Amino acid sequence: MKKIVLVILIALSLIPFIRGNPDAKITGPCVNCHTMHDSQGNTGMATYGADGKPWKSIGPNPMLVRGGCMGCHGIGTAKIVNIGGSDVPQVYHSDASGDLAGGNFAYILGAKGSGASDRKGHNIDDLGKPDAVMAGIIPGGFLGSFHTKTSGGILDSTNGDGATIPTLTCAGENGCHGVRSPAGFGGSGLVNLAAMKGTHHQNASGQLDAADKVSNSYRFLTGVKGFENDGTYKWQNKDASNHNEYFGTTTPPKYGCAGGTVNCHGANGVQSQNNSISGFCGTCHGNFHTLSGGTGGSAAGIGSTTNSPFQRHPTDVVLPNKTEYAAYTSFSVQAPVARQAVPAAMSAAVAPGSDVVMCLSCHMAHASDYPSMLRWDYTAMVAGGGGSGGCFTCHTTKN
Ligand code: HEC
Ligand code: HEC
Ligand code: HEC
Ligand code: HEC
Ligand code: HEC
Repeated sequence: MKKIVLVILIALSLIPFIRGNPDAKITGPCVNCHTMHDSQGNTGMATYGADGKPWKSIGPNPMLVRGGCMGCHGIGTAKIVNIGGSDVPQVYHSDASGDLAGGNFAYILGAKGSGASDRKGHNIDDLGKPDAVMAGIIPGGFLGSFHTKTSGGILDSTNGDGATIPTLTCAGENGCHGVRSPAGFGGSGLVNLAAMKGTHHQNASGQLDAADKVSNSYRFLTGVKGFENDGTYKWQNKDASNHNEYFGTTTPPKYGCAGGTVNCHGANGVQSQNNSISGFCGTCHGNFHTLSGGTGGSAAGIGSTTNSPFQRHPTDVVLPNKTEYAAYTSFSVQAPVARQAVPAAMSAAVAPGSDVVMCLSCHMAHASDYPSMLRWDYTAMVAGGGGSGGCFTCHTTKN
């Protein structure tokens, strides 16, 4: 009898890991991450990240946490750091064993890789170094001054100190994670931690097919569906069998504010309106994702249809099950594809005719060691040169 009960208990305990685990919450004593008064022996306690990194570590912080985003996500040198029992994914480190799936902001400042360069990624506020090459510019952003450096625009960020800086923040109105709800649009205008309230303790992982709030969206990117690798190589795109799964669609939207077009502002703030990861990038880089014909006219976007010839490399289009594309059948982390339905598990297969090209087929999300934040060295993509990987993962006969 006892054995049967034990078996049932073990079986029950495994259920949350099967799919869409709503209970993948952070664990450990409150004191590891929170400080009630930001004071102990009259010394501040919000000190996470005070280890010589570029970002300041000062409290008090919203939700009484002991550091800003990078205070917890940029500690030490390893790609995953444990704070008293809770693993914390790291986005700025010098770990030689590799980076997490989003990339590594350390390439921008040269703390890892071939040397500092603003061209290697998104220069977020915490780095303390606005992008000198694209100051106040969003490449591919075409929807007018609201989206650039004017008052209330994406690049008119208020950072944690209340200062206005021409750069991106990790989360909120001027960033990527959390609720992106611009004050100018009747939204909350919250930035960084304030825009993340209630996400960490509710973090869902595995198959995320609802994405109707921040906590059950892919990596706290509001509205983005996907499958989070929660296995042995959590947070990593390690190899064909161990990687996140991304959501894609068969036709990009036409962006704009008029009828027949898609507006990125919704009930949950600015978000990917087709739930795809490419649609998320498109909320800022609309021109590189949209179908032509919305705001921006015929010169904007990939072309007016999802058929070749295109005028920009397409994303949210299906990998054709013919010609050279039909040969891409084994998943490669060199050029991941997105799926039309959020899978319940990771798959090592690619299905031409169904799977979808996305921005992250070629780019990282945070930063990489290559110009334009590419996954690989573009200068090594030489037609007829016998190369492999990169572009050749899909364009299998061009080497
Ligand atoms: C490993 C780190 C970590 C630990 C341990 C932790 N928290 Fe948090 N908690 C956070 C972070 C980060 C936030 C702020 C961002 C957010 O809300 O997602 C937060 C936010 C909160 C919030 C406000 C948002 C919400 O979800 O209600 C409360 C309340 C809270 N924590 C209470 C606690 C209590 C009580 C404990 C101990 C039993 C605890 N936390 C332990 C990291 C942690
Ligand atoms: C006090 C420490 C702490 C702070 C501050 C903090 N985080 Fe986290 N964060 C964590 C921990 C711990 C986890 C792992 C949670 C888990 O495994 O469910 C995490 C996980 C995440 C993830 C991955 C979620 C997933 O799907 O696995 C994202 C994205 C993230 N945090 C973003 C942020 C952003 C953006 C900020 C600042 C606005 C921030 N965090 C501030 C501790 C922190
Ligand atoms: C909140 C707006 C925003 C979102 C969302 C966003 N970007 Fe960007 N991106 C920017 C801005 C601003 C720049 C220019 C400044 C910089 O590079 O720091 C930029 C620069 C870039 C660059 C050029 C980097 C360089 O320095 O050469 C690439 C590539 C890029 N983004 C890809 C992406 C991809 C892929 C996604 C989705 C995963 C994405 N972006 C999502 C705002 C955004
Ligand atoms: C994830 C797969 C994938 C990767 C990686 C990829 N492509 Fe493509 N590419 C496609 C698909 C799909 C099409 C459209 C095929 C069609 O519908 O005819 C395409 C089309 C093209 C076209 C033709 C556009 C047209 O008008 O027909 C060019 C040129 C191109 N890609 C170049 C590149 C280069 C250069 C790289 C590397 C920087 C690259 N691609 C990486 C999948 C990929
Ligand atoms: C097929 C590979 C591929 C795909 C897919 C792709 N890009 Fe790129 N991207 C590149 C390359 C290569 C460059 C370098 C500039 C060039 O060749 O046009 C680049 C450059 C950029 C830049 C920098 C532009 C500048 O002015 O310096 C941004 C921003 C960008 N891409 C965003 C995106 C976004 C957003 C998506 C998805 C909607 C996307 N890319 C999809 C390959 C790709």
